[in-house]
Amino acid sequence: MQKPDFKEAKTTDKRPYVTKKFQLEKKYKNSFQGKTYFMKTYGCQMNEHDSEMIEAILQEMGFQKEENYEQADLILLNTCSIRENAHHKAFGMLGRCKHLKEKRPDLMIGLCGCMSQEEIVVEEVLKHYPFLNFVVGTHNFYKIPELLTTSLKEGLQVEVYSREQDLIEQIPMDRKATYKAYVNIIYGCDKFCTYCIVPYARGRQRSRKKEDILEEIKELITEGYQEVTLLGQNVNAYGKDLYESYGFGELLEDVAKTKIPRIRFVTSHPWDFTDHMIDLIAKYPNIMPSIHLPVQSGSSSILKKMGRRYTRENYLELVKKLKAKIPNLALSTDIIVGFPGESEEDFEETLSLVKLCKYDNAFTFIYSPRVGTPALKLKDQIEESVKEERLQRLNKIVNHYFLENNKKLVGTKQQVLIEGRSPKQKDAYFGYTETNKLVNIQGKDLPIGKIISIEIMEAKTWSLDGRAN
Ligand code: 5AD
Ligand code: SF4
Repeated sequence: MQKPDFKEAKTTDKRPYVTKKFQLEKKYKNSFQGKTYFMKTYGCQMNEHDSEMIEAILQEMGFQKEENYEQADLILLNTCSIRENAHHKAFGMLGRCKHLKEKRPDLMIGLCGCMSQEEIVVEEVLKHYPFLNFVVGTHNFYKIPELLTTSLKEGLQVEVYSREQDLIEQIPMDRKATYKAYVNIIYGCDKFCTYCIVPYARGRQRSRKKEDILEEIKELITEGYQEVTLLGQNVNAYGKDLYESYGFGELLEDVAKTKIPRIRFVTSHPWDFTDHMIDLIAKYPNIMPSIHLPVQSGSSSILKKMGRRYTRENYLELVKKLKAKIPNLALSTDIIVGFPGESEEDFEETLSLVKLCKYDNAFTFIYSPRVGTPALKLKDQIEESVKEERLQRLNKIVNHYFLENNKKLVGTKQQVLIEGRSPKQKDAYFGYTETNKLVNIQGKDLPIGKIISIEIMEAKTWSLDGRAN
């Protein structure tokens, strides 16, 4: 059984990776005709997008989607390991699967995603969940057809690599929406922030070739897509591993020139954000003025311990430039409270930074120690009750600014991409502004999948109410 090794995951591999095309072997096509699958995805957009590919592969194998896990022939969990609670949720679900399996021995169960990349998870599965069909890592989910088929004869298959392998292109995708799409531009992360498990779970930085990315976007345009989100753990590092002088700025400009109406990108590391990128966002109207710029902490000494490679001052300087050049900018961030050694003064620096940046949105987290990361070994771990209290204080302030910023939009008209009918209200729709704010809209027969002008009537903390004219 292969178990991933964090030490190996961290070693530098100068071997150039090879790009290969995905093709489902003939023997697996429709080999599960008449069977159903239930897919549960945890975590970030990267996982959501991986699931779009995994589901398309399952469908090529003949599986049909089933929304109720209790009815499905195959249950697949695409897991996240960024914080401990994501772990607990997935193991909770595995517990429910165990009960189902006792009643239905022919039930097939698979585990994929970031948790599969953790040695302790693989050990736990071998010990307590040996009835699973397969555990497959983030570097090789396209091997599911082979693993599942073999497992039916030979039992649990574990295939997890510590290191990234070749880059696979042309994997089919079952995209969740017909008007907005995720497009991977770079896989993995080389930053090794001291609290973060991602570089181990997803491997080193590997950029997709610019031609492959642009081709995918051109196809999306012909299919009528209105919006692409360029995905990467750190999109700003795009191209560094592949080209001498073609980076994220150049790619962003080439994507803007395709004339797709809306371009977004996540996530940006402040360290790699260049003036050239800022100028491009300001210049091209189809690059949305909405930037996710995780700060993590407002204290330079904590940032240093986190291995973030910028200071509070560097970050504030960057935000100042962004706000000056992009007047309608919506800024969002990620913040961690309770990192080891975070004093009350450090935390107050985070609060004061939030007051200066006035974020439009912020994802706030309690520091969660992850096995294998350097921060786990740091002294001065903060007490749970202190972390909780800091999170509440922080949330109160970030929420205040969400509402303040939203209030400024009341009475204005905003371009909104209509995404669907409101699940709660009759004759109501929902969509997102250019600045990525959710708008609930009163109106009849609105065009789903199109961008229209909406008058903003009311502001709430996490959404706006609007009216179609
Ligand atoms: N504990 C808490 N939050 C974390 N994040 C990453 N690792 C951890 C951790 N160990 C947060 C960071 C990152 C976001 C995706 O998750 O804020 O930007
Ligand atoms: Fe994790 Fe840091 Fe990489 Fe983001 S930049 S994925 S926080 S290591």
